[in-house]
Amino acid sequence: MIALQEQFEGLREHFRGRDLLDFSDYTGAEIMQLLDAAKTLKAMRQQGTPTPFLQGKSLGMIFDKASTRTRVSFEVGMFELGGQALYLASGQTQLGRGEPLSDTARVLSRYLHAIMIRTFSHESVQSLANIATIPVINGLTDDHHPCQVLADLQTIIEHRGSLDGVTMTYVGDGNNMANSLLQICTLVGMNIRIATPPGYEPNAKVVEQVRRNAVLSGSEVVITHDVREAADQSDVIYTDVWASMGQEEEAAKRQQAFHGYQVDDSLMKLAKKEAIFLHCLPAHRGEEVAESVLEGSQSVIFDQAENRLHAQKAVLVAVAG
Ligand code: CP
Ligand code: NVA
Repeated sequence: MIALQEQFEGLREHFRGRDLLDFSDYTGAEIMQLLDAAKTLKAMRQQGTPTPFLQGKSLGMIFDKASTRTRVSFEVGMFELGGQALYLASGQTQLGRGEPLSDTARVLSRYLHAIMIRTFSHESVQSLANIATIPVINGLTDDHHPCQVLADLQTIIEHRGSLDGVTMTYVGDGNNMANSLLQICTLVGMNIRIATPPGYEPNAKVVEQVRRNAVLSGSEVVITHDVREAADQSDVIYTDVWASMGQEEEAAKRQQAFHGYQVDDSLMKLAKKEAIFLHCLPAHRGEEVAESVLEGSQSVIFDQAENRLHAQKAVLVAVAG
């Protein structure tokens, strides 16, 4: 119990007040600290040990896009930490009627202890964080999804024992997931290969930044169009939808562009025998992933979805504690 108190005290002292917008201002050691806390919080939940670390605290959750996992896991997470979460669909707030985000940020800072936001523009989340005097957590933008990749690493540790020497292959769109996976993998020293169709590569600035991380951490980074080469002897195969939220009108064009980039059984066979399959969900069966892979024995997608809860509780305790 004392060791536990020390772990969470240390976490809170280190992270208190920090934003989590993406991982560009985090270190590999900090990510490992959050993952350790997530593991502890998961074990405590399984043992039925109460975790009232955020008693009396309120999280506001601004949503401009749909969500199942993010909304429910943050809401349940705050409840289990002794606090509460408020769901703020922006269309039903004054934001939807044109009240500036800058005014909203200052108002919400007077009521809440942290804000989670899911929206389109990453820059608007950065502006919100600059103005708000409470921590801001990115619940997904067009460019990043940091909470998801934290849960992804927790899942890899659970199934592979550690992150040491692990190679992840991400197949598909160079989107928010690809950018965040590039950041987190290169900070913790994992190898990361991204295979996309031409024209759908990850953000060039992120790639440049993570190549610098990789030099420091010893990660190997491969950005390629060759999906089979990318999957060869990999430990983790990951994919995401071809058309993200907000890209619905491009869906038909993307179906054609992504032909040949489906994760199917033949692709899984190129990876290591014990490789795991990850998908942030929601998944489109028969598009980016074959039903047989999604439902197959290598798929750990529901452990991954569950870990959103534990990883985010760790972030909440850390920044809002
Ligand atoms: N993976 C994820 O963020 O799921 P939701 O869109 O359901 O929140
Ligand atoms: N790339 C997807 C991720 C959903 C969790 C999207 O942005 O819609």
